[in-house]
Amino acid sequence: MKIAVSGKGGVGKTTISANLIKLFAQKGYNVYAVDADPDSSLGMALGIDESELSQIQPIIDMKDMIGDIMGDGALYKLNPLVNDIADKFSIHKNMIKFLRMGAVKKGDSECYCRENIFLKAIVNSLILETKDIVIMDMGAGIEHLTRGTSKGVDLMIIVTEAGKSSVQTARIVEGLAKDIGIKKIKFIANKVRNEKEEAFIRENFQHSELMGIVHYDEKISDRAMGIEKVTETLDNNEIEEILNKIISN
Ligand SMILES: Nc1ncnc2c1ncn2[C@@H]1O[C@H](COP(=O)(O)OP(=O)(O)OP(=O)(O)O)[C@@H](O)[C@H]1O
Ligand SMILES: [Mg+2]
Repeated sequence: MKIAVSGKGGVGKTTISANLIKLFAQKGYNVYAVDADPDSSLGMALGIDESELSQIQPIIDMKDMIGDIMGDGALYKLNPLVNDIADKFSIHKNMIKFLRMGAVKKGDSECYCRENIFLKAIVNSLILETKDIVIMDMGAGIEHLTRGTSKGVDLMIIVTEAGKSSVQTARIVEGLAKDIGIKKIKFIANKVRNEKEEAFIRENFQHSELMGIVHYDEKISDRAMGIEKVTETLDNNEIEEILNKIISN
């Protein structure tokens, strides 16, 4: 199954992605953790050492390899063979393979069609066995949703906070996800602090649209500040409930 996690800046996309990735791995799934956010932070949230992270280049910046596989001239392959790339250029941590895509660039003066086709081919090459799962942290902004990398996604999770602007962005993302043909789109409310906020979420989302509500969790913010260590295993029951819903559907 391929899952993309999207939503407004700062709502908790990376946190939710990292938690789901670790939980799936804990349950014995092979997980491809795809950082599709140019401001990548998924690796850190997964607890991968900075020294190790700095050793892998984002796929999009591997110009020579892209040239070799795609062809260098004005003509390039539309269906490049990239079967072993994802495994070769990812960091392997137990059941997790971490892959940094880099910024999917827009053609301004230069055309990045070649690079974009390459990234899309890599996402599509993550061929899935029954116990494989791909989780992509898409980053903020909605540009990526018009790109090929969102195709083939089985479930789009849109994270939102209890606030009008965050909900508005969530609805815009939903519209775009529908436009590009993603059939299953669900919401997660994150950092919910009290009953008033919970009521706001329930007013704005139907029960069937909502995968779950994740309350503000001090352990999560302590980890972000480095007060608590980022661990490999997890203990957030609300996120685990969401994962169980994903598995059973
Ligand atoms: N449930 C939660 N409880 C407490 N803090 C949280 C929770 N979820 C996320 N946070 C904190 O909120 C901040 C933003 O989270 P995160 O980086 O996951 O958001 P993001 O949507 O990925 O942001 P960006 O758009 O910059 O990529 C982080 O400091 C994170 O630790
Ligand atoms: Mg993020």
